[in-house]
Amino acid sequence: MTDLSIEICGLRLRNPIILASGILGVTGAILTRLARDFGIGGLTSKSIGPEPRSGYLNPSVIQIDDGTCLNAVGLANPGIDEFVQEVPEIKHAGVPLIASIFGETEDQYAMMAIKVEKAGVDAVELNISCPHANVSSIGADPYLTASVVHKVKDAVKIPVLVKLNPNVTSIVDIARAAEKSGADAVVAINTMRGMAIDVETMKPILANKSGGVSGKALKPMAIKAVYDLYESIKIPIIGCGGIFTGLDIIEFMLAGAKAVQVGTAFLEGFGIIESMKQDMARYMERHSIKTLGELTGIAH
Ligand SMILES: Cc1cc2nc3c(=O)[nH]c(=O)nc-3n(C[C@H](O)[C@H](O)[C@H](O)COP(=O)(O)O)c2cc1C
Repeated sequence: MTDLSIEICGLRLRNPIILASGILGVTGAILTRLARDFGIGGLTSKSIGPEPRSGYLNPSVIQIDDGTCLNAVGLANPGIDEFVQEVPEIKHAGVPLIASIFGETEDQYAMMAIKVEKAGVDAVELNISCPHANVSSIGADPYLTASVVHKVKDAVKIPVLVKLNPNVTSIVDIARAAEKSGADAVVAINTMRGMAIDVETMKPILANKSGGVSGKALKPMAIKAVYDLYESIKIPIIGCGGIFTGLDIIEFMLAGAKAVQVGTAFLEGFGIIESMKQDMARYMERHSIKTLGELTGIAH
């Protein structure tokens, strides 16, 4: 068996594949299954807010091309108090659990970070980047980003990850602000703003009209973001966007990622995790690579 384990922010993952936020709900049963039966390396919860929220009307997720989706779910979630009840069961999965949180003020972010830390999660991910909700304005402004990160860093001891918004002039400026304020890692990238119009009804298809593009079409933009970030910041980068194969993961690592998050690819079923692992193991053998950590940033 090839060793696919990696270490990031003090967390040991048996492989670099982490579930991206928002793809599966927050129920313990499904997340535990993903770890136990399908061998994922780590889990990120759906983004959780201070109060329960129902999100936008359907259609909220549509496939616009093979492996490419457009979504505007509207941060539907059960609220922080319900989520923390699920944490003990999710922790049974035995893999690191990252809680993704969003709020409207820095105090809300800090309050939720304290609650998830108390509940036993391994790291917190700040969603300041959802392209179809108000939080994207935080992730588009280096000062607001710095201020939220600062507040959360002061409030908790667990690693603080910042999920970056690609819908900005300079993703590097935002990442630098997060790093300066003490962020332990960045996740790049969230979805890119997009829209699809039904030519028969002559109207936008999503109930929210516009949404975020995920999946295969997002990968070149995500690779470029990770490549640029690697040249500009020292904290670890978790790559995300359009990963469908183990070679996609290797590509993100060569650009500068230490680990990755996967979302849209799970449309093809969870068996894809095993084939990603096999791809990585074969690649490592072919290139005589002993640990995946050796690959980070090699393309530079
Ligand atoms: C249906 C759907 C819901 C999502 N919800 C969230 C969310 O709640 N929080 C978040 O940070 N990202 C959310 N995302 C973005 C993903 O976590 C990820 O950044 C993006 O989809 C790119 O990765 P992928 O191409 O592997 O899907 C969502 C994506 C999709 C497709």
